[in-house]
Amino acid sequence: MRCLLDLTGENHSEETLYRQIPFPPAPTDRPYVFLNMVSTLDGKITLGEVGDTAAGLGSPMDQALMKRLQRNAQAVLIGASTLRAGHVTYPETLWRGVVTASGNLPTDARFFREAPGKAVVFTTEQVPEQKLKEWQDVAHVVVCGTDKVNLVQALAFLRQQLGIERLLCEGGGALNYEMFAADLIDEWFLTLTPKVKGGRHIPTTVEGDGLPRERVVQMELMSVYENNGELYLRYRRAR
Ligand SMILES: NC(=O)c1ccc[n+]([C@@H]2O[C@H](COP(=O)([O-])OP(=O)(O)OC[C@H]3O[C@@H](n4cnc5c(N)ncnc54)[C@H](OP(=O)(O)O)[C@@H]3O)[C@@H](O)[C@H]2O)c1
Repeated sequence: MRCLLDLTGENHSEETLYRQIPFPPAPTDRPYVFLNMVSTLDGKITLGEVGDTAAGLGSPMDQALMKRLQRNAQAVLIGASTLRAGHVTYPETLWRGVVTASGNLPTDARFFREAPGKAVVFTTEQVPEQKLKEWQDVAHVVVCGTDKVNLVQALAFLRQQLGIERLLCEGGGALNYEMFAADLIDEWFLTLTPKVKGGRHIPTTVEGDGLPRERVVQMELMSVYENNGELYLRYRRAR
């Protein structure tokens, strides 16, 4: 691995990169939030079809960095489509939250079963009472929003009710858009893998309706590392 640029003043090897990140303290109303994604050069977040997993995108080094980033967090947050895509598994110590409006959640997934008491479902008032009751067998259920989940409230729950100070968001693109639109992302760890997928219907790192010109989110580069043509980029929100 090569360090191409590190404006944090550190100079990491493949053994130490992202192992212990000295993040700034969390605000009082939400955790400090960092996003991690891997994409092709053209921004796609799966090599398969819509709804497939991210399998095969990143190298073993990217996978190792993903696990290190998880160990820097106390909780992880994903969109329901990422959970439905499958193969979602985390260290048992990690709280795991999923956001859904439809209520279509695979409650037999490892996400819920592998760490009893550590799963949180954030959902809306549209979901029938019966379904909320069923979820309570496998998760904490937080209703915050009428049509869609109010992510500011969801993050306030994580910070104030569970004491979460560092939250890792792991996508996918739809949730990432909602998080950026609510200005809830402090840092973005982005692996660019030297592959090109194409396909206008294939999700990219940030989806949604798109922000108006005056609200486009400005990020600033913190570091760039490289391994076998794969780039590990770290950006933070310019404030
Ligand atoms: N390459 C990577 O690093 C990476 C990382 C993660 C995922 N992925 C891939 O990305 C794809 C999934 O991404 P995606 O953009 O299609 O979907 P996504 O962001 O994973 O999930 C979207 C879903 O999350 C729920 N959601 C998001 N924001 C919400 C809000 N504010 N209120 C209520 N519900 C909300 C909705 O669930 P309901 O539909 O249940 O209402 C929505 O349909 C999969 O192929 C996955 O494998 C890749």
